[in-house]
Amino acid sequence: MTHSRLLRGAVLTFDADPGEAPTPEANSLRYWEDGAVWVEGGHIRAVDDYTTLAPHVPAGLEIVDYRGKLIMPGFIDSHVHYSQLDIIASFGRELLDWLNDYTFPAECRFAERAHAEDVAERFLDEMLRSGTTTAQVFCTSHPASVDSIFSAAQARRLRLLAGKVLMDRHAPEALTDTAAGGIRDSEQLIADWHGKDRLAYSLTPRFAPTSSREQLDAVGGVLRNDQSLYLQSHLSENRGELAWVAELFPECQDYLAIYERYGLVGPRSTYAHGIHLSGDERTRLADAGANIAFSPTSNLFLGSGLFDRLATREAGVVTSLASDVGAGTGLCGLTTLQGAYQVGALQGQPLTAWQGFYRLTLGNAKALHLDHRIGRIQAGHEADLVVLDFAATPLLARRTQMAETLGERLFALMMLGDDRCVYATWADGRLAHQRDAVACREAP
Ligand code: GUN
Ligand code: ZN
Repeated sequence: MTHSRLLRGAVLTFDADPGEAPTPEANSLRYWEDGAVWVEGGHIRAVDDYTTLAPHVPAGLEIVDYRGKLIMPGFIDSHVHYSQLDIIASFGRELLDWLNDYTFPAECRFAERAHAEDVAERFLDEMLRSGTTTAQVFCTSHPASVDSIFSAAQARRLRLLAGKVLMDRHAPEALTDTAAGGIRDSEQLIADWHGKDRLAYSLTPRFAPTSSREQLDAVGGVLRNDQSLYLQSHLSENRGELAWVAELFPECQDYLAIYERYGLVGPRSTYAHGIHLSGDERTRLADAGANIAFSPTSNLFLGSGLFDRLATREAGVVTSLASDVGAGTGLCGLTTLQGAYQVGALQGQPLTAWQGFYRLTLGNAKALHLDHRIGRIQAGHEADLVVLDFAATPLLARRTQMAETLGERLFALMMLGDDRCVYATWADGRLAHQRDAVACREAP
């Protein structure tokens, strides 16, 4: 029998982009102060006011009482490296040094399957503790690193995108593949995982400097043959990287042109960063429908630069929000929003809470072409939910009490919140994380 429950609490979900103004666009969101979400199996059966919905549910249906808390769609992270979980907060380097000093050594350890399996479980624990129910994940160049994260996500019934890093030059020998070998491995992983349960494959050339022309060309060939595949990479993050890319690909007019040349820029492509793009590159990204993953805490941590969110948006480019852990400093979407606000504030374009929470949920779902399944609380959508606690810290509780509007409460949550505010996370209609349960289990 399908398991069914009613989750009662405040409910917020977006139906459309709320815009950039302090007041959200009309009809862009729905909010129920005393709401209820009827979850049946892995899907949402209905959402409404508690008093409207309660008479329609079967007698004796289990009610989960989240009154005083806020139920939202589970957060989505459009770009994160699970293999970098253990090097988060490694001191003081910019991108290329950070890759050599911390990242590549950490990724070498994934040659050992047991290590990959262990980190995959720890990563998913952290992700769910942070309220994130779907992520697009970089693995390492080892196929077993992909098997590990996919099988761990499958066991937890999560929706996840991931792929094997393709890298055939300018990296330690232990991490490099070959153009032909990298594609062979990717094709096997696609056959094993793509479209299975809630999993999807994302082809993963790390970035232009670590792939030969031959490798990039081969990736384009795979992508052309299957339009349902995703692609994830990095673009225009750091000035040193830009100079190196220009040296390596003198035949290309700019950074984006390299990926374009090999057919790697399309609606299912996610490029992390895009900080130092020209106007022309932005226009071409918009025309292709590719998505830039704004990764604010990573950009601040590595000192990469300030992403111009509004210029990117005005050019018509799809943007998503990402943690980019391990350069990012937190997996929690609230932490990412704080970074996004700070980056915006430094450029006179502060992020509203409406826009921020929209991006973490429906906006990211749209960017990944998954908005027909996740990112909203509505009948027929998958039941991936986060339950947020405004009383998680004394200061947030106090600030919330002072707030007069929902907009103010959400902004305080966005600026003062972190994973402590994630009271519970539901994935595929099941409780996947319960904050206090973890605390009890870990008590001595
Ligand atoms: N560019 C190429 N690889 C990486 C990576 O692992 N992290 C970040 N932030 N940028 C990259
Ligand atoms: Zn990254």
